[in-house]
Amino acid sequence: MKIVIINGPNLNLLGKREPEIYGNETFEDYFFLLKKKYTTVELHYFQSNIEGEIISKLQEVGFSYDGIILNAAAYTHTSIGIADAVKAISSPVVEVHISNTFSRESFRHASYISPNAKGVIIGFGLKSYELALKSFL
Ligand code: DQA
Repeated sequence: MKIVIINGPNLNLLGKREPEIYGNETFEDYFFLLKKKYTTVELHYFQSNIEGEIISKLQEVGFSYDGIILNAAAYTHTSIGIADAVKAISSPVVEVHISNTFSRESFRHASYISPNAKGVIIGFGLKSYELALKSFL
């Protein structure tokens, strides 16, 4: 089982970015623990602050991986290009958000990705990624 977590802009700052919203843990630390817990899964991780790089990664993995866990961060609310890529590929995409976007500013309530996601997991902190991973198992 081959799964990739793709994180969008500013998620490289987890641990120091608005910890009251996103927590104190770095994604690298969390990812290390996740990999240790799910040894049967070939789990990969990619992060980019650049919209086109996220699209290229989706294209690269999107016809061979068993699942994609995508937190497009702010691009969730803005990017038709990422939404089109999610629609174009054949691997199932689970959309993830760390914070409960519906309890925040109204511009975070809309997602271009959700209509073409297999499912959406929102608001469980970093645990959202584990829940998404479990959905593929
Ligand atoms: C986020 C929510 C987005 O609105 C925000 O722009 C992010 C992170 C989340 O995981 O809670 O960068 O996707």
